[in-house]
Amino acid sequence: MSKKPLILGIESSCDETAASIISENDQGNPIILSNVVSSQEDIHRQFGGVVPELAARSHIEKIDWIVQKAIHDSGINIHELDAVASTAGPGLIVCLSVGLSFGKAFAASLNKPFIAVNHLEGHALSPKLNTKLDYPYLLLLISGGHSQYLSVKNLSEYKRLGTTIDDAIGEAFDKTAKLLGVEFPGGPKIEILAKKGDPNKYNLPKPIFNKGGCNLSFAGLKTAILKIAKDIKNDQEKFDLAASFQNTIIEILSKKTKIAFSEFEKQIKPKQKKFVVAGGVAANKEIRNMLVEICKKNNYESIFPPLDLCGDNAAMIAMVGLEKFKLKKFDKLDYPARPRWPLDEDAIFLKGAGVKL
Ligand code: KG4
Ligand code: ZN
Repeated sequence: MSKKPLILGIESSCDETAASIISENDQGNPIILSNVVSSQEDIHRQFGGVVPELAARSHIEKIDWIVQKAIHDSGINIHELDAVASTAGPGLIVCLSVGLSFGKAFAASLNKPFIAVNHLEGHALSPKLNTKLDYPYLLLLISGGHSQYLSVKNLSEYKRLGTTIDDAIGEAFDKTAKLLGVEFPGGPKIEILAKKGDPNKYNLPKPIFNKGGCNLSFAGLKTAILKIAKDIKNDQEKFDLAASFQNTIIEILSKKTKIAFSEFEKQIKPKQKKFVVAGGVAANKEIRNMLVEICKKNNYESIFPPLDLCGDNAAMIAMVGLEKFKLKKFDKLDYPARPRWPLDEDAIFLKGAGVKL
């Protein structure tokens, strides 16, 4: 029997230092041999958000033992590795540089191929770690920095159908949390507060609800919350505002997802209708439930990564590495860190830098 590929993935684009080793089983399905994630929440909490310099310093301190732990947990010998895949963007350049440089050096020292991975592609492929998923599919990517509907035609072949024109959904959750006096990272805590509140108490704006196709906008929502939050008198009102905010997001996504379905069908004419939801906000159970319902009504199969793979992790980076490895899509050791790196082909090509921004 031929040797199964063994891929080391490394992630350091923001405030998680992570390493993972994945392989394939006899049926050709990916298997996670180890998945180590170290969050920096405790470092950034007192500042109410991620401080790039502190984040980079923490990555530098931890990257070595995180990778060693991933190797140890997997039970493999490093010389058995077939390739090293590191996140090269998008993200904070000082953070990206840590995992990227470490991955390149590791690959070079083992004389193995190096693969530069787009973090967003990691999220896009994350459901493949536990579900059989063939191309093409419609993707809703909802994270701290991105909110997009994309047709995923093939590996590294994306077409953007809609995007946020201002804030990302995760950002809206985090900012709302801050306005409600909830500690960083607040997004997941809004979901908890919302359980105790009345989702219809406050009538919040839904920017570009009736125009702009499946593009999204959340900045107006934040401004409205800012005004209401100032006059909040007790916990119940706080719960009601959290619930009303989450409900407004759900109403927006519900409408925009239906528009994205028809755009996807028009563009791709898919034989099978599959809808993947990925990124940190995909962990929100109320959002998941609503999207599952919409999929049922519109004959789509709804696919989510498991909860522990919704947030940033290196198994998803190794997953992209695995697919690229099988196609022998390797990168040179001078591959740059790319703070901006959109998934879609329509991005602006920056002449000279040799990369798309
Ligand atoms: O994908 P991710 O871990 O990092 C980025 O690449 O941005 O996403 C993090 C975002 C944060 O904004 C966080 O508040 C949000 O995902 N998030 C949630 C939930 N869990 C994480 N937002 C709403 N509900 C949740 N349960
Ligand atoms: Zn992410």
